Amino acid sequence: MRKKLVVGNWKMNGSLASNALLLQGLVENPPVDAVEVAVCPPFIYLGQAASALEGCGVMLGAQNLSAFAGGAYTGEVSASMLQDLACEWVIVGHSERRAYFGESDALVIEKLRMALAAGLRPIVCVGETLEQRESGLATQVVGAQLDALTQALSAAEAVSLVVAYEPVWAIGTGRTATPEQAQEMHVFIRQRLSAGGWVGEGVRVLYGGSVTADNASLLFGKPDIDGALVGGASLVAGSFLAICAAA
Ligand code: G3P
Repeated sequence: MRKKLVVGNWKMNGSLASNALLLQGLVENPPVDAVEVAVCPPFIYLGQAASALEGCGVMLGAQNLSAFAGGAYTGEVSASMLQDLACEWVIVGHSERRAYFGESDALVIEKLRMALAAGLRPIVCVGETLEQRESGLATQVVGAQLDALTQALSAAEAVSLVVAYEPVWAIGTGRTATPEQAQEMHVFIRQRLSAGGWVGEGVRVLYGGSVTADNASLLFGKPDIDGALVGGASLVAGSFLAICAAA
């Protein structure tokens, strides 16, 4: 049985003041045991979040990490630094990093290795653009991203890894994939991971892309949707808590 997981990706949002209110809302409404909940603030706010969330049951994660272990790499943040700040999760290969910062499958794998070596649990993002979907290339694109994972990491190495299917055309657009579209791709993801030698049925696959309090229940009702990677709705305590409650 795969435990539900709901993760809030704050992206490049927040302030000490607004974070304090949001975090207080989460602390006052701790998650039920049946659902794992985590939030991924910007690096600069990880210390604030770690202090606020300590002992409340909501876990901490980061939105990215360096492919380097440490040293003369100005501006980078290493896996060990995230682990030092009580992070348990780290998002790797988000579509925004792939699109705006040129992150390749190869770089995603390097970052994954760093995360796993530090004992972090990676959430690896895959997904197609609207043009790719409309061209009938969605499974080809996502399949190639998955093959890069299974060719680089063994099932044993990837046992703590979570996959997030985030159709790029649904991110920040309000155009959520239908539960049926998401379920269909999640089944494909499990099958492709299994074809690559992993235990597809054992990998948690999250959906991300305009998840809200209104659509979460229908998405979570699908058997192969194990939770959500939530962007905009994670910035409002009430919305995020409602999504967690729907899981
Ligand atoms: O990582 C989650 C994010 O990409 C989804 O964003 O705002 O569509 O929920 P949003």
